[in-house]
Parts: sequence; structure tokens; C-alpha cells
Amino acid sequence: MDIAADSNEIAKNMEVIGTLQGFVGETVESSLLDPDDCWQPTDFLPDLTRDDAFDQVTKLRERTSCIPDSIITSLVGNMITEEALPSYQTSFNLIVNEEKELTSTNGWVRWSRAWTAEENRHGDLLNKYLYLSGRCDMKAVEQTIHRLIYNGFNPNVNLDPYQIIVYTSFQERATKISHVNTGKLADKAGDNTLSKICKTIAGDEARHENAYKSFMTKIFEIDPNGALKSFEQMMRKQIVMPAVLMAEGNKNPNIFTDFSAVTQKIGVYTTWDYASIIEHLVSLWKIESLTGLKDGAAKAQDYLCVLANRYKKIAERMKIPDEINLSWLSNNKLAF
Ligand SMILES: [Fe+2]
Ligand SMILES: [Fe+2]
Repeated sequence: MDIAADSNEIAKNMEVIGTLQGFVGETVESSLLDPDDCWQPTDFLPDLTRDDAFDQVTKLRERTSCIPDSIITSLVGNMITEEALPSYQTSFNLIVNEEKELTSTNGWVRWSRAWTAEENRHGDLLNKYLYLSGRCDMKAVEQTIHRLIYNGFNPNVNLDPYQIIVYTSFQERATKISHVNTGKLADKAGDNTLSKICKTIAGDEARHENAYKSFMTKIFEIDPNGALKSFEQMMRKQIVMPAVLMAEGNKNPNIFTDFSAVTQKIGVYTTWDYASIIEHLVSLWKIESLTGLKDGAAKAQDYLCVLANRYKKIAERMKIPDEINLSWLSNNKLAF
């Protein structure tokens, strides 16, 4: 697609998402929570105002001392991903916020605020929990968060609003899967509070996922040809993990590759999951049964219908290294 055609297409796509403003605004009311009704990080953390605060912290440290290093590294990577939220909100607004006004009453901008506000609790909670656990080199963790936000975030959506909604539908589901799987591993390691934390965060991600998917479902109803082409373009570029830029300029250039190898190895997020998400979205948006397509949309349909199987083949052949460098761990083993 040449640049002129591309910008015409984007202008048309912006018009379509403009018509969904009301629907998106209603979704803020129906799917997101009022700040007074939401869970907050303190609901899961030791209450430091109480006389037994240190006992509570000791119990937390006893529980987390049994969690394998690989799970701690994976959890830190997930926490760092959540902590780079300023970049995600910026990126979303650069596309959907035509008024360039963050306090706008436009449904899309309201959504971006309410969604960010919910997401903000995820990094806060995991960061505090990991800090209290003493299992991490927190300075190294903080430097990675700093570096990641410093470097920014590029979902490769070329300012196409359809592509960013495909991206967020995919990514919220991926994040949900990661937190669910981490919760299971924490439970197995004997930390049922961490397991509850991961499940609770995954519950938020599930609400967000359903909302983003419903936005894209509406787009498919209004403009199936354009939606198909954007879905195809997004998937051809692949869904990059939001924290990929943590490695750029980092004194350990392999930090992201190592993190993603750990998540593969312990089954927190794998290429199988990537394939299953494609399969899920292709089925949800009924890609196979769309008819009367034009302008390359039929080709996009062909590409998308076989894509999950391609990734399953990649997953089958995938070799995970036996030894992976684990980052962000504390050198001090805690004795109990
Ligand atoms: Fe999150
Ligand atoms: Fe999320």
C-alpha cells in the first residue's frame, strides 16, 4: 500500500472509530470500575500502620522465599512491563485522541483514562510485593523500568486506529494468560497471596480484553474489508511485547531475550499461547465466514485463516536453551 492510499485508509478508519465514541463511552460505564469500588494494592499488602506490621512482612518473606528464581525473574519482567504504563497511555492517545486533550469527554479518551487508572494498580502492587520480598535487586529493577520508559514503546501500528485495537485486544489477552500462569506457579510454590494477586490482576486484564475485542467486533460489523486488512497488517508485523525496548542501551543487551526465554521455559507465556490467541481472535471475529470481500481483503482472510497453524508449527520446532541468564535477582539468599 502506498503512502497516499495509506493515509486515505487511516482517515477512513478514524471516521469509523469516531462513530463508536458513544459505544466506547458506554463500555467505560459497563466494564470499568469506579475508583471508589476498585481493589487497591494495599488490599494485598502488609498493613504498615499496624503493630504487627513486621510480622506480616516476615510472613510475606517466608512465603516468597520458596518461589523458584525463574518465577521471580518472570514476575519481575511482567511487573516492569506493567510499570511502563505511561508509554502505553501516550501511544493510545496519539492515535485516538484527535482533540489532543486528555480531559476530553470523548468516549475513546475517557476509556484511555479509566483503563490507565485500572492498569496503574498492577505495577504498583507487584512492585511493592517484590520489594518487600527481598528477592530482587530493586535498584537493577528500577533501572530497567527507567530505561524502558526512557526508550518508549512502538506497537508498529502506523497510526491506524484499527491496528491499535487489534494490538490491545491481543495484548490484554496475552497479559491475562501470563498473570494466570504465574498465579498457578505461585500457588504451586506455596505463596497463595501472590497467587491471589496474579488472579486478581488477570481478572482486570480479562475485562479489558473483552472491551477491546468488542470495539473491534463493532469495527468488523461496520467495515469488514478495512478491519480485515488492518488485522492482517498487524499480524504480519507481529505483536511485539510491550517491554521489548528494555534492552536498547541496557548494559545487558540480552535482558529482554533472556526474560522472554524464561517465560517460554516455565510456561508463563509461550509461542503456543501466541498461536492460541490468533486462533481465538480469528474465530471470535468470524474471519473465515466473511463474504463479499474486496480490495485485498480476501487475501487478508486467506492469510489470517492459516496463521495460527503456522505459529503452532514454529512452537513445535522451538528450542529453548537449557541455561538462561536470570536477571534482577537479589544476591542475598534469605534465611528462615
Ligand atoms: Fe496490566
Ligand atoms: Fe492490561
